[in-house]
Amino acid sequence: MDKFLIRGGKQLRGKVVISGAKNSALPCLAATLLTPETVTLHNVPYVKDLITQRRLLEDLGATVLTPELQTHKVTAKNIETFEAPYELVKTMRASVLALGPLLARFGKAKVSLPGGCAIGTRPIDLHLKAFEQLGAVVSLESGDVVARAPKGRLIGSDVNFEKVTVTGTENVMMAAVLAKGKTTIHNAACEPEIEDLAELLNKMGARLKGAGTPTIEIEGVEGLYSAEHTIIPDRIETGTFIVAAAITGGELEITHCQPNHLRAVIEKLRETGVEIEEISQSSLLVKCCAKGLNGKDVTTEPHPHFPTDMQAQYMALMTQATGQSIVTETIFENRFMHVSELFRMGANIQVSGNTAVVHGKTPLSGAPVQASDLRASASLVLAALSAEGETLIDRVYHIDRGYENIVKKLSSVGADIQRITDNLAMTAEENI
Ligand code: EPZ
Repeated sequence: MDKFLIRGGKQLRGKVVISGAKNSALPCLAATLLTPETVTLHNVPYVKDLITQRRLLEDLGATVLTPELQTHKVTAKNIETFEAPYELVKTMRASVLALGPLLARFGKAKVSLPGGCAIGTRPIDLHLKAFEQLGAVVSLESGDVVARAPKGRLIGSDVNFEKVTVTGTENVMMAAVLAKGKTTIHNAACEPEIEDLAELLNKMGARLKGAGTPTIEIEGVEGLYSAEHTIIPDRIETGTFIVAAAITGGELEITHCQPNHLRAVIEKLRETGVEIEEISQSSLLVKCCAKGLNGKDVTTEPHPHFPTDMQAQYMALMTQATGQSIVTETIFENRFMHVSELFRMGANIQVSGNTAVVHGKTPLSGAPVQASDLRASASLVLAALSAEGETLIDRVYHIDRGYENIVKKLSSVGADIQRITDNLAMTAEENI
């Protein structure tokens, strides 16, 4: 398994270009299943999860051409099977996003029920309940979700999410665009990725409004058509690089990003003392303030509040802030796996229930550590960049799932990081 070897203590300086958003490219690729015509997506990040999503589309019978690495031309004309198998779903739970479009277009779908993952049990009961509200018959058969539209077509209806769910909202949006009649989603997720998917669906001929607000209205149409769309920048990658500049006391210009999509993160980091200047609508200049960082409490909540996907990175930064900061995780029940590894590097953090109390500033020292999930691995990379000595991070396949070319991007701004690989393929990728 690949590892990262990082020698810390170097201030990062230079320019970083942000890639497309993983969590938008995944539902947008799933949406291509809604039409037999060609849909072209630009700015698709070349990361493991998108490689898996592409494989899922091809297994279903779609053709996926990539004239450029970040451009996918998908034609789901000859869909032969309506099944997302366990082999794929177990590697990437976002495969459940195939359920909505397959059910909508073909009136049937079979997707392996995703198990839990490192950060929580992560059920999809709200997705399934919503499909039933659209008239689907849903059953569980030997670990697979089998959904059928008895009348061959879903029926528009009111969908009330008792809890905000991002992929749940996306799945229902994709199911409802071809349903008979009107659907209104209440308590919908408002993440920027939801708005991006809505923009693509409307370009394909859907009639959807209200994305980005808790109430989304969808008038079902008979069919959807070809379209071309550019995926939004990755706001979590942007946030991660802001922290990289701050935790190393460096200065980074972050380009091809969308500051509006991570307002809560920028505000919170400014509160701690990070200097963040918006030099244009798509670029930021980040400096760590001379006076150092101050500990500030944070609570994760659905958008537009502070995202859970930035919690681990924020915690790493707070180990280098003066004073105490309380980090409260309200979205996932098991998202403090990085704490014990940060502890190994010398951090002083107490966890009780869904809160972690970080006592700073504690100099970190390099150590062998292990990644447990995508964002936890990002926090270990950030801690290692500020630590004294060498850190060896194991299981970095987690980070490859969602960060494009992270070793190359960090090295290009002065980080001493290298991938220790036992997989030739990955090395080639990083030479792109
Ligand atoms: C999306 O996951 C993101 N993944 C996650 O990013 C992100 O952490 C999460 O939203 C929250 O922002 C993608 O977009 C592919 P949820 P999702 O449904 O949709 C509970 C990353 O690091 N819930 O909004 O799976 C659930 O257990 C990943 O890039 C139910 O109980 O998250 C959680 O506690 C990690 N039943 C809460 O709701 C359901 O049917 C929010 O989950 C659905 C969700």
